[in-house]
Amino acid sequence: MKLPEGDKESRWNALKEIVTGCPTCNANLNPGAQVVFGVGNLDADLFLCGEAPGAEEEMQGEPFVGPAGELLDKILAGAGLSREAVYVGNVMNWRPKHEKAYGNRPPTIEEMSFCMPYLRAQVEVVRPKVILALGRTATAALVEPDPAVKMGALRGRWWEFEGVPVMPTYHPSYLLHNPSKS
Ligand code: URA
Repeated sequence: MKLPEGDKESRWNALKEIVTGCPTCNANLNPGAQVVFGVGNLDADLFLCGEAPGAEEEMQGEPFVGPAGELLDKILAGAGLSREAVYVGNVMNWRPKHEKAYGNRPPTIEEMSFCMPYLRAQVEVVRPKVILALGRTATAALVEPDPAVKMGALRGRWWEFEGVPVMPTYHPSYLLHNPSKS
């Protein structure tokens, strides 16, 4: 997609308006839910990329505000970082529909492909020094889409997306259920 013109903030604001008004994103929303766009420091060195909004994120319209977000904050604090210092986005701008109200499922390749230009545009506006890909879906979007390649083979090494170094790591939700991996 063609990025809006102007300084960082006005480009980001224009982008947010495009994404929150995106007809496909809105058509995919659950009842009462909102399109979720990235949030944070536009001058951040670190861009955290998650998978998709969950139940709380789709209601509040913000990434990582539920249980995974709480753990993310603790992980950031452990690294001496606050939310205010980083930028947080997701591959998806809507929560993938599930037959159970509280069920989550990974996005399909088609869903991810649709939202990818929005993620790429956010990376282009923020131009972070590093992207942390949280989990296999973010890693698929930014680094390696082949599901046969497992996280173990991808994490802990540097990759690249749009010229920005990418470090894949476990998703906070995975760590919530597998604390021994922290
Ligand atoms: N999990 C994600 O990947 N993103 C969120 O925003 C919340 C949970």
